[in-house]
Amino acid sequence: MTAIPRHLLPLTATVDNGQLLIGGCRVSDIAREHGTPVFIYDEEHLRARCHEAIKAFGQDRVIYAAKAFLCTAMAKLAHDEGLLLDVATGGELFVALNAGVPANRCVLHGNNKSLNELRTAMKAGVRHIVVDSFDELERIERLHAEGLPAPRVQLRITPGVTVHTHEYISTGQDDSKFGFNLGNGSAHKAIDRAKQSKAMQFVGVHCHIGSNVFAVENFTHAARIMVKLANEVQAEELTLGGGLGVAYVGGEHAPSITEWSTHFKAAAAELVGDTKVFVEPGRSIVADAAITVYEVGTIKHIDGVRTYISVDGGMSDNPRPVLYGSGYEAFMPTNVEAARTKPARIVGKHCESGDVLIHEAHLPESLKVGDLIATPVTGAYGHSMASNYNKVPRPPVVFARNGSARLVVRRETPEDLVRLDIL
Ligand code: LLP
Repeated sequence: MTAIPRHLLPLTATVDNGQLLIGGCRVSDIAREHGTPVFIYDEEHLRARCHEAIKAFGQDRVIYAAKAFLCTAMAKLAHDEGLLLDVATGGELFVALNAGVPANRCVLHGNNKSLNELRTAMKAGVRHIVVDSFDELERIERLHAEGLPAPRVQLRITPGVTVHTHEYISTGQDDSKFGFNLGNGSAHKAIDRAKQSKAMQFVGVHCHIGSNVFAVENFTHAARIMVKLANEVQAEELTLGGGLGVAYVGGEHAPSITEWSTHFKAAAAELVGDTKVFVEPGRSIVADAAITVYEVGTIKHIDGVRTYISVDGGMSDNPRPVLYGSGYEAFMPTNVEAARTKPARIVGKHCESGDVLIHEAHLPESLKVGDLIATPVTGAYGHSMASNYNKVPRPPVVFARNGSARLVVRRETPEDLVRLDIL
């Protein structure tokens, strides 16, 4: 195994004397100052991806899917860069509003929005609500009857498209908890009902076929179906979801956001009216902007079996390998160019054998206890899906840019672990 492939590292990554720098900051210095594990984001990279998306799809047409990674600094960054925010729960809406993102730059999602979530969103005046079910149509009608203003709504449509990705993150097929099925007439029934309702203003249709999708033909297929529907129901707005895959390991290559956009253009050209087309990327904005840095705690070699390398995090800061069997790479941020010839399994510190970060990793022979190792491409669905399993405090998040590293989420403390407990 050679050195870590550079295309998996953030945009501003450089190497000085074997040491990795992100945003002009030495990764080992950040680890020393903030401890490990730590998520380090390349702020320039985040901003560059936002620019790229806006350039590809147009001003006010890109909705950042905040579930991929959200904290106050990220909400501000996405907003400052001109992105709208997709919030999928009342909690995500709270973080966005609390960060100063105006409600009319937020879009509310979710397959089971509570009355309270809808009430908060309607009171605040979100840009639109993506309605997912007949029950939700009823809830909006009830809230409007209570005196809340009629919201703009898009309806989430399940277009009946099967995509190539893990079944847990595939959402466009008929057998799905999400949206109104196109195939069985529910979509048309819901659209008619929304159009007739005085409690809401029907503005368009939405689909999201799945996440970490590499096959661009899956997107064009769904886009064609949705464009036909948008024309039929005279939608002012059409949202084509997120879902663009990213490369996690060497040998994997994903389409760029710009390439992704070209695959929608032919379908969008078939729109008859001046329907506005939106997208909702999450992973492709943030995933490869970040690395996670751990410290090696134990190395156990079992002759004829394998070597286990235990780090000071694990499934609590990155549940993706356990949940989806996702692959990652590892390397030493203090010895970036070293050949990675030592095979090992990288595991976390949690009390179960399934707590594996990388089944078949390769690291430099020199690796020893106390060294740092990093996993790249951990910017999406890592911190946002982190847990306190085994009462492990969640790691901090650092944004590095122009030689300075700013802490944007502090590490949880032991006190945080009991702050909700009542004696
Ligand atoms: N729009 C909607 C309605 C979504 O449900 C999602 C993701 C997105 C946009 C953004 O998709 P992206 O561009 O990030 O693929 N935890 C899983 C991914 C779950 C995706 C959920 N929905 C993972 O770690 O792979």
